Amino acid sequence: MKHLISAGDLSRDEALLILDTAEELARVSERSIKKLPTLRGRTVVNLFFEDSTRTRISFEAAAKRLSADVINFSAKGSSVSKGESLKDTALTLQAMGADAVVIRHPASGAPHRLANWVRGSVLNAGDGTHEHPTQALLDAFSMRQRLGRLEGLKVAIVGDILHSRVARSNVLLLATLGAEVTLVAPPTLLPVSVERWPCQVSYDLDAVLPKADVVMMLRVQLERMNAAYFPSAREYSRRYGLDRDRFAKLHDDAIVMHPGPMNRGMEISAEVADSPRSTIVEQVGNGVTVRMAALYLLIGGENQ
Ligand code: NCD
Repeated sequence: MKHLISAGDLSRDEALLILDTAEELARVSERSIKKLPTLRGRTVVNLFFEDSTRTRISFEAAAKRLSADVINFSAKGSSVSKGESLKDTALTLQAMGADAVVIRHPASGAPHRLANWVRGSVLNAGDGTHEHPTQALLDAFSMRQRLGRLEGLKVAIVGDILHSRVARSNVLLLATLGAEVTLVAPPTLLPVSVERWPCQVSYDLDAVLPKADVVMMLRVQLERMNAAYFPSAREYSRRYGLDRDRFAKLHDDAIVMHPGPMNRGMEISAEVADSPRSTIVEQVGNGVTVRMAALYLLIGGENQ
C-alpha cells in the first residue's frame, strides 16, 4: 500500500490489517501518555481545500500521537484555478519533503492527481462527491467494535447518497468485508450509477429498518445542491428522518451512526443522536486510531 485514495482499492486483507492495527493502537489512546515514537522524523502535511472539523483534527491528532511533524495547510479561499494551484502546492510540498500528504478537496479525483506529483503517500480525506476512505474504515471499525463482526451485517445507509463520498466509500469497503448494504433515499438523491454499486436500493425506510443491524444516517448536503431535490425540509424529514417512532422499529441490538456534521431535527432527531445506541461520538474517537493505523502502515516502514 503506497496511497489510500479509494476504499475500493483495498483488498479484504489490507482493510482488516488497518482495522486490526487500529485496535492495537487504540490501547495507546487509553494511556495517560498517548504518544508513540513510531513516526519520529517523518513529516505529514494536512492539505485542506474544503471545510472540515472532525477529519482535519483527527488526522492531526493521529500524526502527532505517532510523533510525526505536522504541517497544516488550509488552502480554502485560494483564487487560483484548481488544477494549477494544486500542482503548485504539490511542488512546494515536494520541496519540503512531505512523507505523507492528507488532502481534502472539492474536486473528485484531486488526490489521484496529487499522487502523480508528490513522492510521498497520499491519503484522501474526502474528494468532492467521490470518496472518503478513512471515514469508511472508521465506520467499519466502529461497527465491529459494537457488534463484534462485519461479515453478514445488514447496514442501511440513509439520505443524501448523491452527494456523499461517505456512502460510496462505505459501500465499497463493506462489500469487501462481507456486509450487506441497502441504500435508502428518495430517487432524486441517488446517483444514476448506483445500479452498478455492490448494494441494494430502497425508497422505503420503514420497510428497511426492522431488518437492519446498523443504520447510518447521512447529512443532507445543502451546500452541494443547486436545485430542489425534495419538496421541503419537513417533507424530507417525515419520509427519511430517523425520529423516535422510526427508531422504535429497530431491533434491540441495532446501532445508529452518523459521520457528522449532523442537521439535528432533519435527518436525525436529537433524541436518537444522543441515545446510548448511537455511535456518533465513538466514531470521532475511532477516527483518530484508524487514521493512526493508516499513517503507520503507509509511512511507518523502515525504508521510507
Ligand atoms: C463528511 C464529509 O465531509 O464527507 N463528514 C466527515 O468527514 N465526517 C460528511 C458530510 O459532510 O456530511
